[in-house]
Amino acid sequence: MMSDRKIKLQIKDMTKKYDNGDGVEHINLDVYEGEIVTFLGPSGCGKSTILRTIGGFLDVTSGDITIDGKSIVALPPEKRPTAMVFQSYNLWPHMTIYENLAFGLKLRKVPKKTIDEDIKKMLALVSMSGSEKKYPGQLSGGQQQRIAIARSLLLKPSLLLLDEPFSALDAKIRQQMREELKKIQSDLGITVIFVTHDQEEAMALSHCIVVMNKGKFDQIGTPAEIYDNPQTLHVASFIGEMNFIKQANGTIAVRPEDIVVEKGAGKGDLDATVRTIMLMGHYVSLTVQHGDDVVKCFIDRDISGQLKENDAVSLKIGKHTTFPNT
Ligand SMILES: Nc1ncnc2c1ncn2[C@@H]1O[C@H](COP(=O)(O)OP(=O)(O)OP(=O)(O)O)[C@@H](O)[C@H]1O
Ligand SMILES: [Mg+2]
Repeated sequence: MMSDRKIKLQIKDMTKKYDNGDGVEHINLDVYEGEIVTFLGPSGCGKSTILRTIGGFLDVTSGDITIDGKSIVALPPEKRPTAMVFQSYNLWPHMTIYENLAFGLKLRKVPKKTIDEDIKKMLALVSMSGSEKKYPGQLSGGQQQRIAIARSLLLKPSLLLLDEPFSALDAKIRQQMREELKKIQSDLGITVIFVTHDQEEAMALSHCIVVMNKGKFDQIGTPAEIYDNPQTLHVASFIGEMNFIKQANGTIAVRPEDIVVEKGAGKGDLDATVRTIMLMGHYVSLTVQHGDDVVKCFIDRDISGQLKENDAVSLKIGKHTTFPNT
């Protein structure tokens, strides 16, 4: 990796235990300036817990967190160079969009003229120009979320913390918001920590993904590293589609696009029988039976055209990972 990258955030052997014993343990992480880093994992694995300790909404039990080399664990949220956007928009419903956006700046005694200019620029950035006089209730969910992000960006945080900010939005707006966030992030060059349990969202947005499981980090890597070289069975099963084929000497994890299917038995690594053929658009999703395992393969339409249910086929296993049998 480039040696001139600057570390923005460092989490050092951090543990946060709730009274009931739940929480996260011995967390270590370096986040580089100008990156989007995503915490990805199933519900309850500790994503929000870590984010809240960074933002100052939870105290750490032990360990340290630094931003630009300075410890922040003793500081209250408003003294930290961070801004956090929660899952629910928490705009103030009785204030206009302008008032919502200006609030934090007024507290910081920013001159009115600067506030007006900054708000105008920021609304343009999130494609919400002209909404100053509206109330949150007059905006859609996606629009409110853009305002919430604008409000946090106006405080010029050194680190932006986003806890599942798009989870209440429908699929199409979610994708749009993803693209917008990516653009804003690169325009402003800010560092972002993003939390999601949606693996597609994580793949699309991140420079670096931290895959979490039960309060621990399973793997840290670029989207390509995580997708191509999953280091644990959990990562392999959580990211993208994956087949697990049990063999005597281990379990083969292979993606549907990495299997080549040929009509007739005895021509590949494994023999199987066609179960279902589904046209997905430009490709075909085929499931085949191999012993007790059902294996999914993505194949071209010209090959699927030669096949019907119960046909014998051969599978050539391309790129794959073998995990020990448990
Ligand atoms: N205030 C609390 N008191 C006690 N336990 C808590 C508290 N908040 C969270 N937990 C527990 O800590 C663990 C991690 O919770 P956390 O909210 O960080 O998970 P998460 O990964 O953000 O999940 P989700 O995707 O559902 O938001 C869970 O087992 C949860 O039950
Ligand atoms: Mg959470």
